[in-house]
Amino acid sequence: MNKDTLVEVAGLKTYFFTDEGVVKSVDGVSFAIKKGKTLCVVGESGCGKSITARSILRLIDPPGKIVEGSIKMRKTDGTELDITALSPKSPEIRNVRGAEISMIFQEPMSSLSPVHTIGEQVQETIRLHLKLSKEDAKERTVAVLKEVGIPKAEERYDSYPFQLSGGMRQRVMIAMALSCKSRLLIADEPTTALDVTTQANILDLIRDVQKEYDMAVMFITHDLGVVAEIADDAMVMYLGKVVERGPVDAVFHDPKHPYLVSLLKSIPKLSADRIERLDSIRGMVPHPFNRPKGCPFHPRCDRVMPGRCDTETPPRVILGPEREVTCFLYEEGK
Ligand SMILES: Nc1ncnc2c1ncn2[C@@H]1O[C@H](COP(=O)(O)OP(=O)(O)OP(=O)(O)O)[C@@H](O)[C@H]1O
Ligand SMILES: [Mg+2]
Repeated sequence: MNKDTLVEVAGLKTYFFTDEGVVKSVDGVSFAIKKGKTLCVVGESGCGKSITARSILRLIDPPGKIVEGSIKMRKTDGTELDITALSPKSPEIRNVRGAEISMIFQEPMSSLSPVHTIGEQVQETIRLHLKLSKEDAKERTVAVLKEVGIPKAEERYDSYPFQLSGGMRQRVMIAMALSCKSRLLIADEPTTALDVTTQANILDLIRDVQKEYDMAVMFITHDLGVVAEIADDAMVMYLGKVVERGPVDAVFHDPKHPYLVSLLKSIPKLSADRIERLDSIRGMVPHPFNRPKGCPFHPRCDRVMPGRCDTETPPRVILGPEREVTCFLYEEGK
């Protein structure tokens, strides 16, 4: 593993074995998260972003299972830990969760306890990770709740999750994850439920914590504007596969995969006197059981090569350092 790498995922496959069939949610995904840097993961709904993130923390419940691949992490002491070799209930993986890697989940309700106040829950995390006295932890909790934009934080401290709006619960989750001061924060669409101003504040807050603690961030989002703003590296997924990956400037200014080219075209641009027409990508993401043969994107692709893209698996083409595309158009010699 490269010395700047914090987490390295290679050939990861996470499948769900349902009564109706096998869903290949993550189907051979490889990428790295660098120390102190931000990797953004984008792609349409259902392409496997959350399942990739949950696999890293070994939070895949049956009928889901990691069937292949490896996830390695460099621990604080410099040694490498093979996360895929651990049992999901082992003390080793519990030590990783929170202390080394914290996560803001897409559904905040599922990770907050309904029977404890939000103050108790945030304070519990702070005490666990920062080893503060009860009084200091309470003070710190109120401060963190204020930082994530919860008004009247002292009063809110005694509220239960059901007494808060969805946006407020999301902020509590963010407060908990940030107070862990872990080395990697996985943020799964953390600002989707929030208004634009709060979203900007939360992004600033994540960036501040990132700088102060040299924290790496894996940020999952649909919003390409956010990617442009915060990413060092970007990874584009489609139906369980990585279609393109690289430093964010290269990915945005010189996109290669036809899916990414179309995604970028679908962002509205404000020009001097008019809003340009939106080019949406034709067709729909297919049902997970009806994964197309060959390249999964070929039925929607403008540059499809019949006889090739619909039958064979496209190659992973290395375009430069940490820059790759999975597409027949860029094969050697083309
Ligand atoms: N428990 C489950 N059982 C069966 N299939 C599942 C399960 N959880 C996820 N999947 C399937 O795995 C695929 C990837 O899901 P995932 O949640 O990772 O998508 P996503 O990219 O995070 O989408 P979104 O942007 O909507 O959050 C989807 O087809 C989904 O239906
Ligand atoms: Mg998701």
